[in-house]
Amino acid sequence: MNKSTVVFALRAFVGIAFATNSIWTQASAAANPALGCSVMASPFQAGSGVPCPPPPNAPPPQGTTALSGKAAVGKLLFGDTALSASGNQSCATCHAPNNAFTANNNAPVPLGGAALTFQGLRNSPTVMYASFTPGFLLNAPTPAPIANTLHPGGGFMRDGRQPSLASQAQQPFISSFEMGNIGSAQVAARLKGRPYLSQFTAVFGSSVLNNSDATLAAMGQAIAAFEVEDPSFHPFNSKYDAYVRGQVALTAQELAGLQAFSDPSRGHCVSCHATASPAGLPAQFTDYTYHTLGVPRNWKIAYNLDSASLPPFVPANGSNLGLPNHNYYDMGLCGPLRTDLASNTSLCGSFKVPTLRNVGVKQTYFHNGVFSSLQDVVSFYATRNSNPAHWYTKPDGTPDILYNDLPVAYAKNVEPTNHPGGPIAPNLNATDIQNVVSFLCTLTDGFDPKNPAAYNTSGQCKGR
Ligand code: HEC
Ligand code: HEC
Repeated sequence: MNKSTVVFALRAFVGIAFATNSIWTQASAAANPALGCSVMASPFQAGSGVPCPPPPNAPPPQGTTALSGKAAVGKLLFGDTALSASGNQSCATCHAPNNAFTANNNAPVPLGGAALTFQGLRNSPTVMYASFTPGFLLNAPTPAPIANTLHPGGGFMRDGRQPSLASQAQQPFISSFEMGNIGSAQVAARLKGRPYLSQFTAVFGSSVLNNSDATLAAMGQAIAAFEVEDPSFHPFNSKYDAYVRGQVALTAQELAGLQAFSDPSRGHCVSCHATASPAGLPAQFTDYTYHTLGVPRNWKIAYNLDSASLPPFVPANGSNLGLPNHNYYDMGLCGPLRTDLASNTSLCGSFKVPTLRNVGVKQTYFHNGVFSSLQDVVSFYATRNSNPAHWYTKPDGTPDILYNDLPVAYAKNVEPTNHPGGPIAPNLNATDIQNVVSFLCTLTDGFDPKNPAAYNTSGQCKGR
């Protein structure tokens, strides 16, 4: 594939996420397969290979470029708790800048609402690198499309239901279990009392305040501009990036982890968490596709316990789906938060492949936050089917049915070990698991080749 085809393919598939971002549009246009690294034609393409270093015009380190007026307003909105019904929550509460823009309260799912008492439905993903997500496609292009099988990819949220960063950023303001405002009118009224209102109208014009939906839409655009422009969302300065640039060597354990992560006969993690680069960008560690892993039910989410009556924002969708017939199931692409694919039952249980960048600083993992260490996540992949009693347990700790967070009727969607993209229950021994965890710890940003000792000094990556 020649260079212009690569660029065309990237533009065609990346659409919304890149359209507003001149830095990265230029970066992709400058993509040069002659770098000798594995450039993918499409962000949906999985695989390994020699990763590309950051493009020459990648964003400089944090704080050295001025944000546009729009992004500067977005930054203020992102951190402003006064825009929430509780007065105590902002985007930064669940996406903390000092914790890779993910949650830092050790909870499986966040609390929200007017009194911060409503448990949310899903674990907070990182917002870092989210701006590179392509738009949602029901049949994402893959190197080898699978006949008669839907192969969705892209989109924002764990089920891809939001088409752009700007549309996504409107939702938390009016979600009952997040910032808890009742409709755009309440959000707009709060904004009108904020000291930076004139900065907002200088960017969007005062007429935008005449209509609260337009006000909220403009807030979404400002926040999206912040997430696109501010280098702290995509610094590409992990130890792994420094290794790819030739600035540091990985330890023997980290290197062994990278090998197990990539090896088709062992982890084969790269078949979904790709290390090859979308043209012009360093590895994203996701191909943005959707998969059904059969993640265990998390009993720490109250709605999963069946005893409590469900609040109005939790759709009781579990009836008539076969035993054990829980009240509520989160089935990702087929609902209930996403509504347009409900009849595509082969997609029930599928969630978007998340980036693994900064995964070492996350405190809880998977869409329902069921695990709280990388050790558990990687062990789950390795022994899901060989030791199911360890993973699938009832609230009292006794063994539960296999894939207990999916209605029995959809258990067949869980991808078997011979999944065409690679083994889902990979062949990793105890040493491999430790090595893979050490490798995942090299994906945390903030590595300084001049001061390696200051890196990863806390949490589960400490001392690795
Ligand atoms: C109460 C916690 C909470 C608050 C407040 C919150 N988020 Fe989130 N965020 C989440 C959760 C949980 C998800 C996953 C939701 C889903 O998949 O349905 C998410 C998803 C996202 C995503 C999608 C990431 C991806 O990879 O698809 C982005 C971007 C995001 N949030 C940005 C924001 C912004 C901007 C704000 C403020 C306007 C915000 N969040 C406020 C918890 C929160
Ligand atoms: C077939 C695709 C696929 C393969 C292969 C795969 N993953 Fe994943 N991975 C996913 C999906 C999908 C999720 C999100 C699932 C969810 O939220 O329920 C995920 C989530 C994760 C998470 C949690 C991230 C977070 O922010 O919560 C980690 C860590 C992870 N994978 C590591 C690995 C490792 C290590 C391997 C190889 C042993 C691997 N994955 C192989 C698809 C895959």
